[in-house]
Amino acid sequence: MSESRTALVTGGARGIGVEICRQLADRGLRVLVGARKRDAAEEVCYAIGPRALPLVLDVGSVLSVREAMREAGELIGGGGGVDVLVNNAGVSLDGDLRPPYLDEDVLRATLDINLVGAWRMAEAVVPGMVRAGYGRVVNLTSSYGSLALMDSGRHPAYRVSKTALNALTRMLAGELAGTGVLVNAADPGWTRSGMGGPAAPRGPQEGADTPVWLATLPEGDDTTGGLFAERGLLPW
Ligand SMILES: NC(=O)c1ccc[n+]([C@@H]2O[C@H](COP(=O)([O-])OP(=O)(O)OC[C@H]3O[C@@H](n4cnc5c(N)ncnc54)[C@H](OP(=O)(O)O)[C@@H]3O)[C@@H](O)[C@H]2O)c1
Repeated sequence: MSESRTALVTGGARGIGVEICRQLADRGLRVLVGARKRDAAEEVCYAIGPRALPLVLDVGSVLSVREAMREAGELIGGGGGVDVLVNNAGVSLDGDLRPPYLDEDVLRATLDINLVGAWRMAEAVVPGMVRAGYGRVVNLTSSYGSLALMDSGRHPAYRVSKTALNALTRMLAGELAGTGVLVNAADPGWTRSGMGGPAAPRGPQEGADTPVWLATLPEGDDTTGGLFAERGLLPW
């Protein structure tokens, strides 16, 4: 992939996000490492090298997204935009309640980051991709969000948020057909991280593989509107 391409990774300073940033930089992309705290983003950028640039970004805040897009424009320069958006930021806030019982605060807070946060970022970035005739959007989802695989009410707010993110993936892919912007959902698998915990069988490197593959689909590829794990299709 061309060195002039720029990727923006939300939640890039922790967990799977760090590894996604590293692998994209290794493939020659300039990477905007989104994080709520500038020092966390700077630390990751220092470790990755000069292709990584810190970007303060809270996807739960409209103002923060707006300010981050302004800063991204300055960092990219030359009127360029974001070519690759990886919506990696996510939260898992559920306690033990399962349907029919409902914790409305948890449901709203989860949807605000996992669904609305990704949607806010798409709204901010995708129009520029369409104008450029090129873009890759990858939404980090989970097999927990697959309707076909849904067999219990564990982690209900998280599951519903990822199912909704999958729906956004399909809608965006449909809207953007033929524009050069490809939109896919990636399940990293159960991965060691703050969210996945220490017992998960996969390391961050493996967790980042499918998202990075989708983020770097070559020019002319028409893979869009899919849900993938380990580079293979998962049922919705
Ligand atoms: N780990 C797994 O087993 C697993 C499995 C399936 C899917 N996933 C998905 O993979 C993605 C990454 O998960 P992870 O395991 O790396 O989780 P993690 O270690 O808990 O990291 C979560 C990331 O999301 C960011 N984040 C949370 N709220 C944010 C906000 N309001 N604005 C911007 N960033 C925010 C965090 O940033 P801060 O550093 O600022 O808190 C952090 O970088 C998530 O979407 C998750 O749902 C993970």
